[in-house]
Amino acid sequence: MSLENDIQEAAELLRASRRTVVLTGAGISKESGVPTFRDALDGLWARYDPMQLATPEAFRRHPQLVWDFYEYRRSIMRPARPNSGHLALAALERALPEFCIITQNVDDLHEQAGSQQIIRLHGSINANKCFAACRGEPTSIDLHELQAAPDARPPACPHCGSLVRPAVVWFGEALPTDALRAAIAASAAADVMLIVGTSGVVQPAADLPIYAAQQGARLIEINPIRSELTPLVDRWLAGPSGVILPQIAAVLGIYA
Ligand code: OAD
Ligand code: ZN
Repeated sequence: MSLENDIQEAAELLRASRRTVVLTGAGISKESGVPTFRDALDGLWARYDPMQLATPEAFRRHPQLVWDFYEYRRSIMRPARPNSGHLALAALERALPEFCIITQNVDDLHEQAGSQQIIRLHGSINANKCFAACRGEPTSIDLHELQAAPDARPPACPHCGSLVRPAVVWFGEALPTDALRAAIAASAAADVMLIVGTSGVVQPAADLPIYAAQQGARLIEINPIRSELTPLVDRWLAGPSGVILPQIAAVLGIYA
């Protein structure tokens, strides 16, 4: 089967789908200049040890180091703009009946692209919260409203004096309950699940395609290389999402 045929078939599956779910990972933002985690040459975790930078223990031990790492990532994401893959997903949402994106990404490129139904499994890098969750989880903190010294890094929580941390999910932490529940329900109800740019190694996100498949969904994967999820899927479209997603949308006649 040629890629062209597979794209055609993926488009037909989407055309017939009443409930479509898209699971995205870092790969969809790569063409916007945001690095992935596990790509061998330029992934973040090829250069940095996640256990030293993305766990509550790491933050407790070296808050400054962890804060600086997130400031560095924010500086990369701030100028990033949605690529043709994000835009094609937003166009698909407008054209198809029920449609939602479940993302593991902490950037806001799906929102910027105009997608409406977005379930965030791993939080948002643009938001902050109290490390001690002093007013419940999450205790959101707006840094613009802080009176503290602007260069204090990381800043102190205005309620309890504990440290402020990025509102992302770290290794060893639970996912936001409501988001996870919504993601499981949407996956179990899906006719078609598109899996875009994820290595499929981080739980529980990587289980969502299994729930979808168990309930009869067809799975379509877009990724230039094989992932842990490739053996599960009905169609693997081998290529960058910024190229493949607009091609699918074009077959459906909703996007040039
Ligand atoms: P990974 O870095 O593990 O995987 C990125 C995937 O994107 C790989 O399978 C690549 O082959 C693929 N990819 C690369 N370029 C692509 C392109 N142009 N188009 C489509 N796919 C492309 O990222 P995630 O699977 O998102 O967790 O990682 C999952 C979680 O692990 C992240 O959310 C983060 C990380 O630790 C937390 O922060 C909690
Ligand atoms: Zn606090």
